[in-house]
Amino acid sequence: MPHWSSLIREVPDFPKPGIVFKDITPVLADARGFAGAIDAMAAPWRDAVPDAFIGIESRGFIFAAALAQALGTGFVPVRKPGKLPAQVIAHDYALEYGRDRLEMHADALRPGARVVLVDDVLATGGTLRAALSLAQRQGATVTGAAVLVELPALRGRALWDVAAPLHVALQG
Ligand code: PRP
Ligand code: MG
Repeated sequence: MPHWSSLIREVPDFPKPGIVFKDITPVLADARGFAGAIDAMAAPWRDAVPDAFIGIESRGFIFAAALAQALGTGFVPVRKPGKLPAQVIAHDYALEYGRDRLEMHADALRPGARVVLVDDVLATGGTLRAALSLAQRQGATVTGAAVLVELPALRGRALWDVAAPLHVALQG
């Protein structure tokens, strides 16, 4: 197990009864832990640095921005509705607990741009799949995804229906 994994805190019954929430804030608060998590997430992309890491609001922002800085490339946000100022494209999806919509600036990616999607947790997979759809609709080449923690029991990987690798730093 990576040293930072012990810093992930499990919070029962948040945000709803029956959900065990993986709280990554103690990893971020620990300099060695945060650096170790970013090192683990960056490793698969060091030899093929993408044009941008796409961070999914909000916890995905933290990791995508750090990855972009670590590997010297760009950061593009996928945001919750109504937050981006210019023209957007939108995708509706099912969440582990509810439904939601994600948006991206319509001109955020040039056709053929090589991008990697980033989030903290893969649960049901709906969030990551929504971001994949948004990037594909812009004509980007999604070369993969980087997620800190996968919850395999929720089978979110089944929604990842492309050949590009889905790299997970820790099986939760
Ligand atoms: C959480 C988590 C992932 C998503 C995973 O985000 O950060 O983005 O759920 O769930 P899924 O695989 O079932 O789609 P959430 O929407 O709770 O909000 P946050 O990142 O703003 O905290
Ligand atoms: Mg999230």
